[in-house]
Parts: sequence; C-alpha cells; structure tokens
Amino acid sequence: MALSRADRRSFDLRWQRSHADLFQPLERLYGANPEFESRLRKLLLARWSERPAELKDLDLQRDLQPSWFLSENMVGYVFYVDRFAGTFNGVLDHVDYLDDLGITYVHFMPCLKPRPGDSDGGYSVMDYRAINPQLGAMADFEKVAKTLRHRGMSVCVDLVLNHTAKEHEWAVKAQAGEAGYQAYYHMFEDERETLDYEKTLVEVFPNDAPGNFTLYPGFGKYVWTTFNEHQWDLNWANPEVFLEIIDIMLNLANRGVDSLRLDAVAFMWKQLGTNCQNLPQVHDLLQALRAATRIAAPALIHKAEAIVAPRDLVPYLGIGRHRGREANLAYHNNLMVHFWSSLASRKSALMTHTLKTHFPECCRNGCWTTYIRCHDDIGWAITEEDGAAIPHVSGPGHRKFLADFYAGKHPGSFARGGIFQENAETGDRRNSGTFASLAGLEAAIESGDGQAIATAIDRMLMGLALIASFGGLPLLYMGDEIGLTNDYASADEPAHAHDNRWMHRPRMNWARQGSPQLKIFEGTKHIVRRRKSLGHLAASNPTQILEPQNQSIFAFLRMGDEGPLLGIFNFSELWQNLPAAFARGHGIERFHDALSDASVMTPNEQLQIPPYGRIWLV
Ligand code: GLC
Repeated sequence: MALSRADRRSFDLRWQRSHADLFQPLERLYGANPEFESRLRKLLLARWSERPAELKDLDLQRDLQPSWFLSENMVGYVFYVDRFAGTFNGVLDHVDYLDDLGITYVHFMPCLKPRPGDSDGGYSVMDYRAINPQLGAMADFEKVAKTLRHRGMSVCVDLVLNHTAKEHEWAVKAQAGEAGYQAYYHMFEDERETLDYEKTLVEVFPNDAPGNFTLYPGFGKYVWTTFNEHQWDLNWANPEVFLEIIDIMLNLANRGVDSLRLDAVAFMWKQLGTNCQNLPQVHDLLQALRAATRIAAPALIHKAEAIVAPRDLVPYLGIGRHRGREANLAYHNNLMVHFWSSLASRKSALMTHTLKTHFPECCRNGCWTTYIRCHDDIGWAITEEDGAAIPHVSGPGHRKFLADFYAGKHPGSFARGGIFQENAETGDRRNSGTFASLAGLEAAIESGDGQAIATAIDRMLMGLALIASFGGLPLLYMGDEIGLTNDYASADEPAHAHDNRWMHRPRMNWARQGSPQLKIFEGTKHIVRRRKSLGHLAASNPTQILEPQNQSIFAFLRMGDEGPLLGIFNFSELWQNLPAAFARGHGIERFHDALSDASVMTPNEQLQIPPYGRIWLV
C-alpha cells in the first residue's frame, strides 16, 4: 500500500525517536549489523503501511497522551472466551455487562490457534496468525476488538514468546531437518550438553513435565522444553526469531490489539551455569521489542508476565538503562501473594516489609497490573531473607503454612483449594482455587452460616478495594465479581484432569441469582466506580507503603494532585484501632471514607477499622 506523505513523515519521526532504544540493545544481543537493521526497517514500514487509518488515529491520540493506560479510569477484566461467551461472536452479547461493570481493558485468555489436544490452556500455539477456530475467525475477533474500542475498552491478547507448540510450522520444518528452522529452537545432539544445563535449572512443572529437555528419537535431537513436552523453547539468540515475532506482533496490532501479554518472558534467554531466568539479555530483548512496535504501532502497549521474586520482578518495568523503556505493564505477583499471606496469618508485617523494601514508589512509563487471582496457581514467592526479617517468621515455614492453609489443610482454615505441583526435592508446593473458595465463601455457603458468608464477602471486597487503589491497572478475573467457587468437575475432563489449575477456571454463571453473589457483584461495581472518581488513584501517582503500628493493618499513601489518599486495610476478623495522629501525619484532615461515604469513628483520637475493613481517606 502506498503511504501518504504525512504517514511517511510520522514513520520517519517515530523511527528517529526510537532508534537508540531499539538498536542499543539489539547491538548488545546480536552485534552491529546494517543488513539486519535495514531488514527490520523494511518490515516495520511494511506493517505500518498496512495499518488501518482508524488505528493510525489511535496511534496519534496515544502519542499525545502516552499515560493513557495509567489513568484511574483503567479497570481490566480477564476471561477465557469460551468460558465467558462460547465464541467471539458471543462476546458481543456481553459488552453491556462489561460496560456496566466499568471495564475499560479486556484481556482475552489465549485465543490464537493452539495445538490440538492439550494445549496448556492455549499457551501452546501452532499459529500466531489465526484465531482458535473454536472461538471464531480472525474477522470475528476484529469485529469484537472494534466494538470494544468504540465502547471505550482496549483489548489485550496473549502472545507466547518463550515457546511455540511443536506443531507450529517452524517446529514442523525443524523436525523435517531444515537447519534454518532448527536454529529457531534450542536443539542438542549430545545428552551431556543438556545435563550441563540441568545442573542449574529448575523445573516449572515437576509433576507433569519433569526435566527441561525432551529427546525426539525420530530426528535424533534433544529439544529445550521448559514447560510441557509440546512447548518448544524459541532460540532468541537467533535474530531471525526476533524478526518473526515483530512481524507477528504488528500483525496482531493491526487487527486491533491494544496490549500484548508477553507470556513467560523470564525464560527467553539461556546461558549455561545460570537458572536461565531473568537474564540481562531478556531485558534487552523486551526493550527492543517495545521500541520496535512503538515505531509501527505506537498505540500498542506491552505487558510482561514474569512471576518471580521481588528482586527479579521490578526490572521488568525498566530500571537502570532500561528505565521507562521496557514493559508498560507487569504483573505484581508479590502484592497478590502478600494479600493471601496476610489474609491467612492476619498479620501484615511481612507484606509491609516486602512491598516497602523491594518496590519503587513509582515507575517511569509503566505500572503494575494488580490482581488477586488469575488463571494460574499461586506460587509462594516469599524469600528466606524477607521471612527472616520478621520476628517468628521463616521463609520455608511460612510457605509451608500457606500451602497447607489454602489447601484447607491447616486447622481453622477458611479456604478450599488444591495443591498444584509438589516438588519433592525442594518441598515447594503451590495452590489452586478461585478467589471465592480461597477466601472462604465456598465453605461458608456450605455451612449455611450467615455470619461466615458475610465475612467471606468482606474478605473479597477488601481484596478488590486493595487492587483498585494500590497503584496500577487492576485486573478482575472472570467470575470473581460473582464469587464463582472451585470447579471440581474439571478433574473429570480428560484434557484437564492432570492440571488442577482448571479448578479455578470455571464457566461463567450468567444466572448468578444468590444473595452473596449479588452482594459481591454490587460491591465490585461500587469499588470500580469509586476508583474512577478519584484522580489520586492514577498509576502515575506514587504509592508509599506506610508502617502503621498495628499488626493486622496494611496501609499506603497515594499522593495525587488532589492531595493524599490514605488506604487502610484490616486483614483480621477483629476491629482494629489506629491513632488518628497517624492519618493526620499524612495530611488527612477529615476522617471521611471515600469508599463507603461514612465517617470513620474516632472516639479517643482512635480510627476504628471494622473486620476486613477497607478505607480510603482523602
Ligand atoms: C505462563 C502462563 C501459564 C503457562 C505458562 C507456559 O506462565 O500464565 O498458564 O502454563 O506460561 O506457557
């Protein structure tokens, strides 16, 4: 397609703007290579030429307002298309529902064409250019994306960068012996090489898929398979892989995708003698990917999925030379972990310590996605050091307690959940379960105890108020807004029986009549509405973690142009007090809760915080 003068000019200006951000990391990764540079430029220009006018206009809008995704107006909703609405066309019937809930960012769980049979929930992709035929065609997807865009909702899809399905065309050609495609993956002829790597690697699915390599006697090679056998790790040291993926990213952006969730990015670079996670090269790659799409599809943002310990997590939003240049969004798995940790222990010291010690108050050109549950298990990313910093806590002991608690095995636990992947060697255990079941709603409903039900609902609304105000883009996981409980029948589905994460991937229940469900739904909507009315909560405003002298209270300060917002959360089922001077010391003069519209009682200069209370003082 011929480019207009103006479009050509925008491309050239954007190329200049991002040139250093793009080529500095690429040179470190692949060396200086003018031929590669000119191929990349041609590719970007070709995709830019094909970009629909409406999206070019969006590019311009977002270039003029680059902080669009940091706004307090942003609220995300994450779902499996089939479990929410059957197909993409079905989604069109539920746009009003999303709108009513206040959603402005919709994340479709993996929706590109997966391999047949078990596909790890769609994370084993055989064609990045096609929609999963069970959900519809690319045209259906484009229609939904456009409809949502016109209703003020941006669209996120998963892009798996670390691996392809072994049925992907590149892998098939590699298996057929094409050397060029074998170089797209990590392949070894000699088992000893794989054993050398294994010495320092960990296992992601130790029960289902032990080891990190798979031997294919058919073509006589070992292939790097970090996750499942059918997921072949891509070789990002090969610049051809970079070009292929950029092409795919831009193709998706041109179909109307606003945000790409870059899956399992921590694993993208391999180096002997390391655990092959979070290596510096990964950060170079992520910077280069972002700089490239910023030239040819500036409306697109990147969300990094790295579920790692705090020290390794923060760099995904860009630190040091990558500052403001890496992912726009990254999952705050630590906030999620510590919500559950404090909920079980009724104590906030470890949460306060971890979030205060390891996390910056603000990031440049990026923010966290805050969430309570997602489609994955909960891994207890609590380090030995952080545990040791708190009296009477040890990392291993606390991790064991949490795994037991959320499997419902600890005496007095309110939770119903399962153990996911028990690592016999390290003792590591993770948990599955829905928000509602882990927070006690399932057990409470079963017992018929009205007080227990009300308490479980309060735990959930406290969590939602936390992610809505902490700082970042809050993500609601489908069904949490109506308290869907564990789907135990998933264990009877042959394709899912081996993976109990399906217990927390239930189908949507559109009937949702019960009273607890309605309370959660109305409570969620209320929190979302209030969030959107408070400019303090824009992700561009810093989050300062406070140290209230109360062992069950977690608190932070958000400083906006409007003044301060003090968030206070009670992680226990007992009333808690805080000296009013604590709030005054942070600039709060009125003890009025912007969430409930009630004034917080202060007899004897004490703020009184109800069981599982969530309070936003402004
Ligand atoms: C990510 C996904 C997870 C999947 C893995 C492999 O961590 O969230 O569900 O199993 O990547 O693709």
